[in-house]
Amino acid sequence: MKHAPSAAPSDAIVFFGATGDLAYKQIFPALLGLVRDEGLAIPIIGVANAGWTLEQLKARAADSLRLHGLTDAAASERLLGLLRYVDGDYTDPATFTRLRQELGEAIRPLHYLAVPPSLFATVGEALAKSGAARGARLMIEKPFGHNRQSANRLNRVLSRLFPEENIFRIDHYLGKEPVQNILYTRFANSMFEPIWNRDHVRSIQITMAEAFGVQDRGKFYDETGAVRDVVQNHLLQVLAHLTMDPPTGEEHEAVRDQKAALLKAVRPLDPAHVVRGQYAGYQAISGVRPGSTTETFVAVKLQIDSWRWADVPIYIRAGKQLPVTATEVIVDFKRPPRETFGELVPSSSGHLRFRISPDVSIGMGVRVKQPGERMVGSDVEMLLTEQQAAHVLPYQRLLSDAMHGVGDMFGREDIVDAQWRVVEPILDDQTPLYIYEPGSWGPSETEQLIGVDGPWRNPTVASEAPDGTA
Ligand code: BG6
Repeated sequence: MKHAPSAAPSDAIVFFGATGDLAYKQIFPALLGLVRDEGLAIPIIGVANAGWTLEQLKARAADSLRLHGLTDAAASERLLGLLRYVDGDYTDPATFTRLRQELGEAIRPLHYLAVPPSLFATVGEALAKSGAARGARLMIEKPFGHNRQSANRLNRVLSRLFPEENIFRIDHYLGKEPVQNILYTRFANSMFEPIWNRDHVRSIQITMAEAFGVQDRGKFYDETGAVRDVVQNHLLQVLAHLTMDPPTGEEHEAVRDQKAALLKAVRPLDPAHVVRGQYAGYQAISGVRPGSTTETFVAVKLQIDSWRWADVPIYIRAGKQLPVTATEVIVDFKRPPRETFGELVPSSSGHLRFRISPDVSIGMGVRVKQPGERMVGSDVEMLLTEQQAAHVLPYQRLLSDAMHGVGDMFGREDIVDAQWRVVEPILDDQTPLYIYEPGSWGPSETEQLIGVDGPWRNPTVASEAPDGTA
């Protein structure tokens, strides 16, 4: 990935929300990775309003590293030695004065806002007033806005405080090895491009299945729902990696320019092509509103209005409490124009399968002849690559990129807007909600949605039968 023209690395990391869940689950492990793999040795300042001391923050960090099995004692020691802590209210200017002091000599800090979205603008403005925003980069967690209008409002506030090239909107799917590998595999080979279009592709399916429920995130999830939680961001980004045109030229924005062009060509969703579901039992979760109509499952049919993709049906499906935890993409190719061997073959012939999680693989499905006298075949899949898990944590990669001013794997103002534009017609209660049984593949209406473009290709995991049943 290419660096921005003035990409001097950040000389301090400030992370707001240091005592929170995200810091515990993702940020401390990512920071350890940076210390261990990249020799990170700059001040790391945690900020929170928890009445904590630096010692408490260090204890929390050590606990997080233990929990994640990160046992490199020397690297842990170095990380704990880099930690600083500022405690205070985000609406109190004194908090930011203390932060400015703690920053000392640093002139290019990276401010990472791991705080609720309602605080993004408050913290951004306070950083600007205190002088801590000068020369700084800003990294922000999702969700970026609640709809198109609020995302635009937030973009306007932030753009007054930071230049666009210094704003890094996180979508952790973009930090995932297999998601980057979709882009890499497509454009590091010339064999895919000639068949990557409406002449050869029959359909595309993207499935993100989670076998667990909303757990302890009732309140957050109930205000969010599957469309906002994973479709508007993660899955549209996966779709963009799959379908965008090759980046051209040497400009450091080349990848995002093509991605933006693709996402702007995705037709806003038609409510008639959406199935929303909620798993039975969801309403009993703490934090969920009585009578909630928030979806925990969604399946949509998308169209891309471009010469390359016109009329290729694209299906995205995501849900909680499904039979497995796996994310997978299937690009299905058209069958040959005539049946040379007179056998009844399935309606597609050949596919590419990108497994994003839990394991990482790319498989190519083809039909080959079965040994014997008759010209009869069977479907086989060859594995192009297979890994048990990605080596570098998504957050480690994203932090490292943001520190070096590399924005390719982050949202951009126009990209975020294009993503909201796609889902806007189906947000909230614009379409019916169906109840589904936990452990099923969602409401039965999903079958009618896919119709003759089906069947749905249910991802399987090692201990399961091919149809996804346990
Ligand atoms: C998050 C969503 O962004 O992504 C969660 O808020 C979801 O609801 C998670 O479970 C999935 O991420 P991953 O990396 O586990 O696939």
